[in-house]
Amino acid sequence: MTTDWTAREEGPRPLLNRRLAEFGTTIFAEMSALALRTGSINLGQGFPDTDGPEEIREAAVRALRDGRGNQYPPGPGVPELRQAIAEHQQRFHGLVHDPDTEVLVTAGATEAIAAALLALVEPGDEVIALEPYYDSYAACIAMAGGVRVPVTLRPHEQGFRLDLDELRDAVTERTRLLLINTPHNPTGTVLTRDELSAIAALAVERDLLVVTDEVYEHLAFDREHVPLASFPGMRGRTVTISSAGKTFSFTGWKVGWVTAAAELVTAVRSAKQFLTYVSAGPFQYAVAEALRMPDTYFEGLREDLRAKRDLLSEGLAAAGFAVHRPAGTYFVTTDVRPLGESDGFAFCRALPERCGVVAIPNAVFYDHREEGAPFVRFAFCKRVDVLQEAVARLKSLAS
Ligand SMILES: Cc1ncc(COP(=O)(O)O)c(C=O)c1O
Repeated sequence: MTTDWTAREEGPRPLLNRRLAEFGTTIFAEMSALALRTGSINLGQGFPDTDGPEEIREAAVRALRDGRGNQYPPGPGVPELRQAIAEHQQRFHGLVHDPDTEVLVTAGATEAIAAALLALVEPGDEVIALEPYYDSYAACIAMAGGVRVPVTLRPHEQGFRLDLDELRDAVTERTRLLLINTPHNPTGTVLTRDELSAIAALAVERDLLVVTDEVYEHLAFDREHVPLASFPGMRGRTVTISSAGKTFSFTGWKVGWVTAAAELVTAVRSAKQFLTYVSAGPFQYAVAEALRMPDTYFEGLREDLRAKRDLLSEGLAAAGFAVHRPAGTYFVTTDVRPLGESDGFAFCRALPERCGVVAIPNAVFYDHREEGAPFVRFAFCKRVDVLQEAVARLKSLAS
């Protein structure tokens, strides 16, 4: 007997379970295919079009050749990398972590997010996340059986801002965890010290756990990035997540990490060990070297992306978009209404044919789709000549 597992209305149950039914293929697949078909410049997905430092690439080759990490590395990550992560947290943020018990290496930040939510959330627990959110958050909350509660960042003169009263009102008896992201993808918001302090005070007052995704920690342009874990009362309740992908422009290596108090790391490791167990052995040695690069590297990365932000933001403004200049990350969110448009989806689907550029409609990052309808995100982690060509193409929208 054959079974039609794809039947949806009646008959056999669908293959994809109910928790994941709303997460079909991502918009990135659709838009990247569109970019390919139309020969467009793809400013949709956020990956750099040039690799990170040559010496770090060489370090990975050396590790491979020397047979370091070619077999299963230790579950928590290779000691060299855990030590380097602990040193990095102290060097840049003044946070002290024991590399043996308070650091965990993961398969990118993506696995760290999944493992943290799977470890800390009981089915039915509410998880508050800042909307629009990075697309894996909703799916990971769903996989953990949690209930997502969005708190919407709204556009202001100074970019997208968090309403602290709304955040406070969103906390209920069932809230287990705040899922924070700063610098924030896709809006480019960098939460201020005052906002972070208020979030920390709320977490302490309501005894909440906090998972904070800080993968863009080195890409804050207009104000400093302050880790949530550094606020009073947060050390024992915060899981901090970061990744080598964004900081060293090796998104394909998928080396990420968690830093937290030992009990939290133990909990997250319990989930992580059954997701991938371990990953990317030789790359772990290379990332250990990367984390120890001089300050000039980190400043250079930030300045390079700041200049690219300005180039693309100005180009988009000249083309007629309202631009929410990002304070961090490598994405800029625009509003298409000044161009006489109101639907970011329709706009993004038509843009490749109109002028050969691909962008992402922010609505996909919202539960309240209507809140995100007019916003469109462009990535600027691309070569200057590519951004210049994109700007030149987008100018045609203004005429
Ligand atoms: C906010 C945020 N978190 C996590 C990730 C994923 O990081 P990784 O590639 O290290 O899994 C991304 C990548 O775009 C991101 O923007």
